[in-house]
Amino acid sequence: MQVAVLGGTGTLGTPTVRELVARGHTVRVLTRSAPADPVPGTVHHPVDLATGAGLDEALRGADTVVDAANHLGLRHAKVLVDGVRTLLAAEQRADIGHHVEVSIVGCDQVPFGYYRTKVAQEQVVTSGPIPWTLLRATQFHELIDEIFRTAAKFRVAPRGPLRFQPVDVTAVAARLADAVDAGPSGRLPDVGGPIVQTLTDLAAARRAFLGKTVLPVPVPPLGRAARRLRDAALCLDNDGETVSFDYTEWLHRRYPKPAS
Ligand SMILES: NC(=O)c1ccc[n+]([C@@H]2O[C@H](COP(=O)([O-])OP(=O)(O)OC[C@H]3O[C@@H](n4cnc5c(N)ncnc54)[C@H](OP(=O)(O)O)[C@@H]3O)[C@@H](O)[C@H]2O)c1
Repeated sequence: MQVAVLGGTGTLGTPTVRELVARGHTVRVLTRSAPADPVPGTVHHPVDLATGAGLDEALRGADTVVDAANHLGLRHAKVLVDGVRTLLAAEQRADIGHHVEVSIVGCDQVPFGYYRTKVAQEQVVTSGPIPWTLLRATQFHELIDEIFRTAAKFRVAPRGPLRFQPVDVTAVAARLADAVDAGPSGRLPDVGGPIVQTLTDLAAARRAFLGKTVLPVPVPPLGRAARRLRDAALCLDNDGETVSFDYTEWLHRRYPKPAS
């Protein structure tokens, strides 16, 4: 199958591209910048979701689109919501048969700007003109680690009762590839990692792996969004599917020797 992966150089996009290539698909990588380390056998198409530039050319002859693009900056609504609308219109012109979207477990439960954007993006896709599949995943281990790495630069580590259920991104990528193979399937069961942990638990796991201490900085559950995180709103409910391994295992796989 000819598959176009929006955001195919990102944290999720890269393993998704690899998995699709391994399954024998012909994969196009659609991003603004050319991949620094292209996956062999793939072709890069420069596109910009914010303007629609390059989409018609990039989608011509493709069968399926996987949207793994992201934007965390101030323009997240413009890039992700207006962007997916622009993308779906281009998919309609290109006669694409299947759009695969990825979103975040519990995004409709947490009143936080980026999550509102994800809910709006989901609505555009699920009410849009292209047959779709939607997969919600919990936070990737990479995101959790990035939070601690950034804090560690200031010799601190956030602690607190906020709860997460981080997941291995390659397991999410495999679910997206399954979705490509299966065809339009609507909303899939949510996926997340094997255990729910507080920020304190996750910080302790990192500290145990590093073997050195940083100053704990409490993050109290102030405000509605933080209280929802404390109440595990971003974690799987009973219908979700746990996949892969926990953050401690990820640390051991990610860093050949302790990170700094
Ligand atoms: N990170 C998490 O923990 C997590 C958890 C659950 C779900 N998700 C969802 O997973 C998806 C991917 O997230 P991620 O963390 O893998 O993202 P990421 O690592 O930040 O990658 C973003 C990708 O999007 C591309 N991109 C950004 N702006 C673009 C634009 N205007 N036009 C075209 N491409 C653009 C980037 O390439 P260029 O910059 O070269 O354009 C890059 O390939 C998102 O929908 C996110 O909400 C993420």
